[in-house]
Amino acid sequence: MTKRTLKLGLVPMGVGGPGHHSHWRDPSVPTDASVSIKWYIDAVRKAEAAKFDFVFIVDSQFITPDSPPHYLNRLEPLTLLSALATATSHIGLVGTATTSFNSPFNLARRFASLDLISGGRAGWNVVTSGDAGAAGNFGLDEHYDYDTRYGRAHEYLDVVHGLWKSYEDGALVRDRESGVFLDAKKLHPLNHKGEYFSVTGPLNIQRSPQGEPVIFQAGDSEQGRDLGAQTADAIFTHSANIEDAQTFARDIARRAASAGRDPKEVLIFPGVKIVVGDTDEDARRIEEAHNRADHSFDLALNEFGRGFGWHDFRQYDLDAPFPVEALEYARKSFFTQASRITKLATEKGLTLRQTVEAVALSRKSPFVGSARTVADTIIRWFEAGALDGLNVMLGRPEQFDRFVNEVVPLLQDAGVYRTDYEDTTLRGNLGLPKPTNVRTPEPVAEVRETVLAA
Ligand SMILES: Cc1cc2nc3c(=O)[nH]c(=O)nc-3n(C[C@H](O)[C@H](O)[C@H](O)COP(=O)(O)O)c2cc1C
Repeated sequence: MTKRTLKLGLVPMGVGGPGHHSHWRDPSVPTDASVSIKWYIDAVRKAEAAKFDFVFIVDSQFITPDSPPHYLNRLEPLTLLSALATATSHIGLVGTATTSFNSPFNLARRFASLDLISGGRAGWNVVTSGDAGAAGNFGLDEHYDYDTRYGRAHEYLDVVHGLWKSYEDGALVRDRESGVFLDAKKLHPLNHKGEYFSVTGPLNIQRSPQGEPVIFQAGDSEQGRDLGAQTADAIFTHSANIEDAQTFARDIARRAASAGRDPKEVLIFPGVKIVVGDTDEDARRIEEAHNRADHSFDLALNEFGRGFGWHDFRQYDLDAPFPVEALEYARKSFFTQASRITKLATEKGLTLRQTVEAVALSRKSPFVGSARTVADTIIRWFEAGALDGLNVMLGRPEQFDRFVNEVVPLLQDAGVYRTDYEDTTLRGNLGLPKPTNVRTPEPVAEVRETVLAA
């Protein structure tokens, strides 16, 4: 059995993601970072030199003037990842795409193309979109309710996997001598007719060296966790502390096992903020200075509405009890996150001001300290089964440099993280099996009956 090793993902946030509204004013961040292919290539090459498993490009299709700077003006993930594919050789290329506002045929084709362009390094982060306003950009009056969102997502994945199996390996013979280009027996239509989608197929593109793109999933509701545990190779999440992370990992493992899967084949990746200092105290000072520079109460209050369908919290008295009625606006948005915030405010009797401060302003990351402390914390979480890998946010460039130059070597010395890639595909590097696509002839009716009766 191969030894379990830590995986690393890079999440580039250009000019500043959620909670980082002033980040772009740092002179080391180009003011056009989120739309600069040069900036992305430099960052991803640095991660590849440090043997990161993948770069992960988050996305959504709705903005307001209060959206974080990176969200206001950024490159579309599959276009960006295709460009990154030609500038790199080993690092995985993962992008968010929503099952709510894309057609499965198009998305299956685009990810299969990225997978071929990159030689088997593509990954798809399956989301159902929390930004309810996106519905208005796709001809809908409002976003789907949760059951519809996740019902579509399950069927969507069935369709996409089916389309990715259109060509068996070896179907494209391409024999100049005999003049045989295609072995038509190995090309399969889909003929899917379901509740939400009707797709005939076949898909007009062959499989890549990793068989199919790796499936990631992000979405924390009961329905979201079931979707991830039943269908994903890896899950993106957030965890405030090691106990929460262990509870989450155990919950996913339980759901995966009851879906008949090997829980070890569902990898868990919390996204974390890492701050490295010369000493632990120095690192906490840097974290505090960043928090002060990154946030003002007004900006945090404006952005706070995102989880609640971009509800405007400026209309309330800041020092009155948290307005619990606002949860209704989250019903078709980020309901799980909004419910958690409302519960916290109610249980602790917080005002709106205190809630915004608790949620957005005074967050302390567990991954802050000297390089030794950060490495030891990562190893502790990894060995306690709280994570299989980490999504490292690329916020301030000097901090990413410190992580790569100071923490990564300690992880390598401890033997928990690779010193070189094991494979050229994302699946290979993540230690995931390659999905097969060799079809056996349909069993005859009698045999099928025997099997069913047994
Ligand atoms: C770690 C993490 C990363 C996410 N990344 C994205 C993303 O890139 N784009 C997006 O539209 N939604 C993203 N989501 C949100 C999902 O789309 C999901 O719909 C949303 O969290 C609301 O659903 P839920 O209540 O099931 O969590 C992310 C969620 C988590 C937990």
